[in-house]
Amino acid sequence: MTIHGISPDILAALERVLGQSGVAADAAGMEKYLGDWSGDHHGGALAVLKPASVAEVQATVQLCGTLGLAMIPQGGNTGLVAGAIDIGTSRGAAVISLERLNRIRLVDADNFILQADGGCILQHIKDAAEDRDCVFPLALGAQGTCQIGGNAASNAGGVNVLRYGMTRDLIIGLEVVLPDGELWSGFSGLRKDNRGYDLKQLFIGSEGTLGIITGVEVKLFPKPGRIETAYLGLPSFEAAIALFRQARRGCSDLISAFEIIGSECVELAHLVDPTVVAPVAAPVHVLIELSSSTAVDLRTLLVDFLAGAMENQLVTDAVLAESSAQARAFWAIREGLVEGQAKRGYHVRTDLSVRISDIPTLIADARRFVTREHPGWVSQAYGHAGDGNVHFNVLPPLGLAEPDARARGADITAGLYEVINALGGSISAEHGIGRTRQRVYWTGMSPVHRRLVSALKNAIDPSGLMNPGCLFPATETLS
Ligand code: FAD
Ligand code: LAC
Ligand code: ZN
Repeated sequence: MTIHGISPDILAALERVLGQSGVAADAAGMEKYLGDWSGDHHGGALAVLKPASVAEVQATVQLCGTLGLAMIPQGGNTGLVAGAIDIGTSRGAAVISLERLNRIRLVDADNFILQADGGCILQHIKDAAEDRDCVFPLALGAQGTCQIGGNAASNAGGVNVLRYGMTRDLIIGLEVVLPDGELWSGFSGLRKDNRGYDLKQLFIGSEGTLGIITGVEVKLFPKPGRIETAYLGLPSFEAAIALFRQARRGCSDLISAFEIIGSECVELAHLVDPTVVAPVAAPVHVLIELSSSTAVDLRTLLVDFLAGAMENQLVTDAVLAESSAQARAFWAIREGLVEGQAKRGYHVRTDLSVRISDIPTLIADARRFVTREHPGWVSQAYGHAGDGNVHFNVLPPLGLAEPDARARGADITAGLYEVINALGGSISAEHGIGRTRQRVYWTGMSPVHRRLVSALKNAIDPSGLMNPGCLFPATETLS
């Protein structure tokens, strides 16, 4: 943990802009903004600043620029790569929380568009869309806490990417306060607009390093009137990928989720809710969801498809949800295992992607590596198979002291990155780079790639005050 102090003069200047309720600089007031969701990281801050309007964000950023204060934009602080907390800026930074900038601005169901402040909680956006018989399809376990600005800044994925794409694909316009305090507004309501560079794409996935997203304009979709969910048991990950291939054709574009869960993950969901029971007993589980907004007989389609898959022995056991409550119970296993991992304590967490057909090889190679080099550690594989995205996590042996586990965990992560590199995959499918993957990201890129990203950063944030140490190496340009 880094502990920094802030001078009374600077504090007074910040309070003049934001009022006393918009600034926290004492340990108790800052506490909830300094630790990450997983409990893995705890940072320091000079102050936590909470602007309540776009104009206040601008004034805050301008003032920080004048004072030479580094800024760390923070949304719901559910990110898993320490992008929104300061775990290494040697001279300290101000955390800028968007939590008070949280209004839905517009729901235009005729044009299937919603506009919201950057600090609006994702679930509130989803609820507002549903109220108008629409859906905003970004769906992830953290949706009750994460913010749409954070989703945009991290280009979040989740369980419906297969059907609707990443956050990048769901955004029509952005509004951003640039590092010099100027407002760039890219709201147009236009789904097609080819006038030169698409600047919003630069800010999507920029992880708070290029500016503060204060507003987001997103695409809505017709609300699916019909949803069918099935929980399946399979003999292997090879079978899961073969099943996906068939489902992609057999169920056409009606698949909205195809999640794989290694059976070893299920007991983690029990840590969160002991009543959770997997409806199948098999080495590999698949959660498949079909949805449609029109009167397609999804049930018959899914039943017939699964009957064929069982005949071919790809699927050994299948349970179709008979109610939305049962479907929710299936999803509770998927969501509970993530919470259960965090509850168990420190663990190696990854977010790998490969070509879909390489998923079984990735999991087999990674498991072999862990068993061979780190006996006693427990491999866990689950993820968004339809997007080639595997969360291959590794739990320390029970009773291993946390400092020892963390030291060994760093070696395990490095070994897993060798496995993913050998397959030509990515070390970050959807969680981003943040601070925890900064070094491996930076050293792993080609010189030309580094030159381009550095040029963009320098052009937009020449003083390097915006989220130093995230994506880019921390610099010592701070005063
Ligand atoms: P934060 O954690 O606050 O910030 C994330 C990054 O964005 C930081 O670099 C921060 O500086 C920057 N940032 C935040 N707000 C702004 C802003 N307004 N302007 C500029 N920069 C900003 N992620 C997935 O992709 N898929 C999943 O399925 C998924 N499931 C999750 C499940 C759980 C239980 C948890 C805890 C996390 C999960 N995540 C997942 C990770 C996380 O929820 C997402 O990355 C989410 O998009 C982060 O949003 P946030 O508002 O919490 O952002
Ligand atoms: C998930 C998060 C951890 O897939 O990305 O549950
Ligand atoms: Zn995920």
